[in-house]
Amino acid sequence: MRSKIVAGNWKMNNNLEETEALLTELAAKLPDTDAEVMVAPAFVNLADAIRTLDGSAIQVVAQNMHWADNGAYTGEISADMLQSIPVNTVILGHSERRAYFGETDELLAKKVATAIRKKMRVIFCFGEELQERKAGTHFKVVKKQLTEALFTLEAKAWDQLVLAYEPVWAIGTGETASPEQAQEMHAFIRDTISGAYQQDVADKVTILYGGSVKPNNAAEIFSKPDVDGGLIGGASLDAEDFIAIIKAI
Ligand code: 13P
Repeated sequence: MRSKIVAGNWKMNNNLEETEALLTELAAKLPDTDAEVMVAPAFVNLADAIRTLDGSAIQVVAQNMHWADNGAYTGEISADMLQSIPVNTVILGHSERRAYFGETDELLAKKVATAIRKKMRVIFCFGEELQERKAGTHFKVVKKQLTEALFTLEAKAWDQLVLAYEPVWAIGTGETASPEQAQEMHAFIRDTISGAYQQDVADKVTILYGGSVKPNNAAEIFSKPDVDGGLIGGASLDAEDFIAIIKAI
């Protein structure tokens, strides 16, 4: 059985006080669920988030990290720093990191390799842009992203990987991929992995959908057989909405 995950990517939102308030409310209202529930606050609030969530099943994850173990990389955060808090899961490859901070699949391959070597869990994000979807090259684009960033990993590294398909045109736009479009791509992703590795690797990897998931569309998206949960942006900043999405899985 693949694990189901609902993860909230807070992006650059919520100061310390707001982080504590939202987490306290989430912890109090967290429904019974067989899904793993995760939140990704800003770096500066991760340690406090862990203290606030003490005793809760909600996991704290990071939004990014550097590929080097340590050194002269002003402003960057290493795997060791995260693990010492402890944060053991990191989101890598988000489209906003790719678009605004120039992260390429080549760089992401290094970040992923470091996280895997450090025994961290990785939520790896990828997905096509609008013009690629319109041009019909979305499958090719996704295959290339997976191939360049992940397919040099050993099969056993896939136990530490979670995938998050996030079509860029659906992020923060209110436009969601239809449940059928999400299922079609998730099935393609599993197929691509089984081609590069073995069927069992493809069968056991959790694949999340991300892009304008809201309380009113989550259940239908999550009902698709190859969709194992969601990576939620805007709706994860509101406790009621995030709880409703957790209930939908
Ligand atoms: P939205 O849910 O705001 O579209 O963001 C999705 C996302 O980017 C999660 O990482």
